[in-house]
Amino acid sequence: MLKAYTNLDQIVTMKAAHHKDGRRLTPDDLSIIPNGAIVFDETKILWLGENDRFPPQYRPLAQSLKGHVLTPEIVDSHTHLVFGGDRAQEYADRLNGASYEEIAKRGGGILYTMRMTNEAPLEDLFAVACERVERLHTYGIGTIEIKSGYGLNFEREFELTMLIDKLKKKYKNRVRIFNTYLAAHDVPKAFSDSTSYLHEVVIPLLEELAPLSIIDAVDIFHEKNYFCAEDVRLLFSRSAALGIPCKTHADELNDNGGAKLAADFKALSADHLLKISHAGIEALATSSTVATLLPGTAFFLGKPLARARALLDAGAKVAIASDFNPGSCHCDNVLLVASIAAAQLKLNQAELWASITLNAAGALGLKNQGALIPGMDARFTLFKTESVSHITYNWGRNFSISLP
Ligand code: NIG
Ligand code: FE
Repeated sequence: MLKAYTNLDQIVTMKAAHHKDGRRLTPDDLSIIPNGAIVFDETKILWLGENDRFPPQYRPLAQSLKGHVLTPEIVDSHTHLVFGGDRAQEYADRLNGASYEEIAKRGGGILYTMRMTNEAPLEDLFAVACERVERLHTYGIGTIEIKSGYGLNFEREFELTMLIDKLKKKYKNRVRIFNTYLAAHDVPKAFSDSTSYLHEVVIPLLEELAPLSIIDAVDIFHEKNYFCAEDVRLLFSRSAALGIPCKTHADELNDNGGAKLAADFKALSADHLLKISHAGIEALATSSTVATLLPGTAFFLGKPLARARALLDAGAKVAIASDFNPGSCHCDNVLLVASIAAAQLKLNQAELWASITLNAAGALGLKNQGALIPGMDARFTLFKTESVSHITYNWGRNFSISLP
């Protein structure tokens, strides 16, 4: 069914940003149409431009939206939103002096959430995950990546991947869900080392799930005391053979050469990057791999932020995601995170918006969304305010609305 919006105060098309592949953006690359109009159907944008040039044949469809701004759809390209329990006690312990790494060493951290996620009935996990997806959607987030990874055994990781697929089907008309397989999130105590866990659980389960065609990407926590470079090579070679794209948690707590390895494997994205080296920056700048920053995690762990400017100036594609999870970032609003982080990371306005639209879509391999151009997917977010600046200037305020 055709629809048309007219009299929008601004349409933030990101057309120039799209032509520049999301790199080296200047403020004008937002490509704003003031007083704009758009025509679209269930899937594609058919026409957009100035209101004055609105094609007369669409006049009967026109819905006037004076006082509103349209942007490409907000994408959260990195969440761990399926988990049981919470880690409020660890959060308090961290405020009182314990570090994330110390907590993990004494059996807390990811392994604590693994226990909570294994103890919870699947129906409860699904119900809580639905609440979370719906809450993100109220902020104007319409595409959400969701990782498995708190099951950490064959059965529960299988169930979590199926649960994400069920979320994907349930919300398909409202939210685009991207299913990432992160069984390589931590090494359960029953295994002597990370490599044996990969051989006994992660890879056999991947091979069982691959023919179902429900996994959109494979991910791994490449980090000291978790998974090493050899593990990453092993897993990514297998996922490549199965035709599944890869993504990675790279160079967060230590520089492990993770960004370079991600670029070598043509990963969709390398995420975190707090400790990325100069060589890592160069590798991402010259590759299609998106550098995904998770400033909410650095805020929440009290760590210095990633060197966004160095990545941007080198020519990397930079995205921002929430990393919503119970431990290192219990914040589910990527628009809020990006609004606060922009000034700290020294992003210009086009870089800020590309980071949660165009480049975040790129981090999920979605080439047909992230800019408002005829022929591209009709995925956008509508805000009840007068300009794009007002959205992030009023950080934390929710201007997004959905129309039937
Ligand atoms: O991206 N690094 C691994 N995964 C999450 C943390 C998960 C947790 O602490 O439960 C992250 O920060
Ligand atoms: Fe993460």
